[in-house]
Amino acid sequence: MSDNTIIKFENVTKQFGVDAPVLDHVNFEIERGKFYTLLGPSGCGKTTILRLIAGFLQPTSGEVRFDNHIYNHVPANKRQVNTVFQDYALFPHLNVFENVAFGLRIQRFKQKKITEKVKEALSFVNLAGYEQREISEMSGGQRQRVAIARAIVNEPQVILLDEPLSALDLKLRTQMQYELRELQRRLGITFIFVTHDQEEALAMSDEIFVINKGKIQQSGTPTDIYDEPVNRFVADFIGESNIVKGTMIRDFLVSFTGKEFECVDQGIQANRKVEVVIRPEDLQIVPWEKGKLQVSVHSTLFRGVHYEIICHDKDGNEWLVHSTKKAKAGEQIGLYFDPEAIHVMVVGETEEEFDRRLESYAEEDTIGE
Ligand SMILES: Nc1ncnc2c1ncn2[C@@H]1O[C@H](COP(=O)(O)OP(=O)(O)O)[C@@H](O)[C@H]1O
Ligand SMILES: [Mg+2]
Repeated sequence: MSDNTIIKFENVTKQFGVDAPVLDHVNFEIERGKFYTLLGPSGCGKTTILRLIAGFLQPTSGEVRFDNHIYNHVPANKRQVNTVFQDYALFPHLNVFENVAFGLRIQRFKQKKITEKVKEALSFVNLAGYEQREISEMSGGQRQRVAIARAIVNEPQVILLDEPLSALDLKLRTQMQYELRELQRRLGITFIFVTHDQEEALAMSDEIFVINKGKIQQSGTPTDIYDEPVNRFVADFIGESNIVKGTMIRDFLVSFTGKEFECVDQGIQANRKVEVVIRPEDLQIVPWEKGKLQVSVHSTLFRGVHYEIICHDKDGNEWLVHSTKKAKAGEQIGLYFDPEAIHVMVVGETEEEFDRRLESYAEEDTIGE
């Protein structure tokens, strides 16, 4: 554990009644001053993790630690954590100032101190001058900012944000993503942000935890997770991917679609069944005979910056290509890719085994340098 660790989950399991556990032996560490994202489909357990951190729930087993002390039963109001809820949960009968001041009044701060802190929090979220507005007079984006001001005014060490942008339209959402990230940098405190939107997670986070069915599938930086997905779920969930079944022949050689291809993966047992991922932007359109794969074009869609081209190979595998080159339906083309574009996933490999394998590559890379 690093000195910077503020929150740690150790084998946290949460079960409601006799149902299958909602969280199943979840482990992670949260460091001070970073932007974390919990990413996963609806119902995977994201909100449950936030509620365990906030102290609204207790784990069935395992430990929730703050600063290395067990906090399983420490009540919510004794934790240095504030939550921004999905529906903002603002008080409609109070104006902007009083919404933000609410927590400070409960803590019996002096009026002068309250005014000072509320003004500072509002100016942080670009709402200086809106103190006397009614909540009903504020737009969706402005309400969002009031909710954030209300969370930061208490100067917590951690802010939890549960899908705070999902109610906003696309343009406002993109703007708020940028603002939230900026705000986190300026405040220097930890944000734990929940979303089911992979693009949002990739754009905003220092670190992402990809969750499915109550388990953390993979944790890492956006580029780690995009470039080296640990399993089919992560590869599929993070961005668009081509995934086909294959077999590892030996180090640096993998077979799929009945052919053998040079790759950069090693340390996998010979003849082990694998899944091969190639991102659509890593496939280049070339003449039929120059391709490593021969495919026929099924359909083409113009996406503004690139064409999205769906192709089929002779085995019936679908290959999605992102290219600035156009291809017509029915055309026979070749697809070319570099060995680095191939990412091999071992079927059934855990994140720990995967990390160990990647570490062994890194060690070999540094030998002789
Ligand atoms: N209080 C509860 N009682 C029973 N089941 C619950 C309770 N809270 C959440 N769940 C179940 O736990 C699962 C995960 O829920 P949640 O953490 O809200 O998912 P997410 O936020 O990722 O959509 C869901 O299947 C949900 O129905
Ligand atoms: Mg939720």
